[in-house]
Amino acid sequence: MKRGTRTGTADDAAKSAQELIEEIASLRRRIARLEKAEGERRRAEAARRESEEKYRNLVESTGDLIFIVNEKGTYTYVNPQFERVTGYEARDLMGRPFTFLVAPEHIDATILRFRKGIRGEDTPPYEADLVHRNGERVPVEFMVTTRYDGAGRAAGRFGIGRDITERKRAEETLKQQSRQLRILSARLSEAEEWERKRIARELHDQVGQNLTVVGINLSIVKSALPAEGTDVLQARLEDSMVLVEEITEFTRGLMGDLRPPDMDLLGLVASVGWYGERFSARTGVDVVVEGKEIQPRPAPEIENNLFRIVQEVLTNIGKHARAGCARILIEAAGGVIRLAISDDGVGFDPTGVRKAGERNGWGLMTMAERAEAIGGRFLVESKVGEGTRVTVEVPL
Ligand SMILES: Nc1ncnc2c1ncn2[C@@H]1O[C@H](COP(=O)(O)OP(=O)(O)O)[C@@H](O)[C@H]1O
Ligand SMILES: [Mg+2]
Repeated sequence: MKRGTRTGTADDAAKSAQELIEEIASLRRRIARLEKAEGERRRAEAARRESEEKYRNLVESTGDLIFIVNEKGTYTYVNPQFERVTGYEARDLMGRPFTFLVAPEHIDATILRFRKGIRGEDTPPYEADLVHRNGERVPVEFMVTTRYDGAGRAAGRFGIGRDITERKRAEETLKQQSRQLRILSARLSEAEEWERKRIARELHDQVGQNLTVVGINLSIVKSALPAEGTDVLQARLEDSMVLVEEITEFTRGLMGDLRPPDMDLLGLVASVGWYGERFSARTGVDVVVEGKEIQPRPAPEIENNLFRIVQEVLTNIGKHARAGCARILIEAAGGVIRLAISDDGVGFDPTGVRKAGERNGWGLMTMAERAEAIGGRFLVESKVGEGTRVTVEVPL
């Protein structure tokens, strides 16, 4: 038998029956292995397809803009939301540079960021306007990361964007509202001032002057009364005259509270001292005023606003602090006027007031506005149980 020409059949024939059985069994095992591998491959394929579909659904149904650009910065993928927000179809964008959609003034920064990203540096989230096909601006917040190929080379960038038109609109509305609130609060304090002046004037012209006349009349009547047998009338008259004096005094006090003293004449420190005394008499809180009149005199606008701030701070001390003592310091140093008012009262949490918003905090807000109006800074330091300190600093 020549070895080289052996055929399969001849070979098989040469095999023993036992050998054949083993070969068939081994063949079966191989087939089973192959079938198993094929099953696994199919399952893996199905899982891959399912997972791919899951991601595709996610990417295609999300409200976010998703895009991929290659290492040159040209679009290679955009999702349907990207199409909706920009007004372009994916096929219009493929092969175009990403700058095609970016608002002109944001292009330079966007290119710099792209280059940084491709170099492997992190780029924090940023906002930029895209230009819609119809020319309208769409503000978008982006988060973009660099994609790498198998060899670790930068292959492009992958980005997620969010249309923040609504958020911007809400921010703008909020800004406008707080602007209006500020204008309103300024008007309110103006109106309040005007009203105070009006009432003070009425008190002086109507009540005060007439009271004087009543007083004079009463003393004329008293001197005209016969001394004999008029004891009861005399007593009543005197009683009335004392009352007239008391009312006069009270009215004068009211007028003083309503109208600031003549600051032109007195100067800021003296006016504050005068007001502090009145406040102290009314509330029982000790008031100490320290400081010299500032030379040269600050502008009337500065003096007026500082005086009004003192008034409001003292009013707050009377209303809220349960303090025994208040200390007011007025000084000019280093080109700055400093007004500091501290009390030893119950204190409060200033951040809590800001959160409470509309219900209270008008006083604090108005004071901050007044300080701002004269180019100054307003600061409230307080802690529950540790008293309160209000500081205003105004550049001279
Ligand atoms: N000197 C103070 N001591 C304690 N609490 C104060 C003091 N000043 C202000 N507050 C607190 O801050 C809040 C806000 O003050 P403000 O804006 O003037 O509003 P209002 O006096 O109308 O309540 C007050 O309601 C009070 O709780
Ligand atoms: Mg107040």
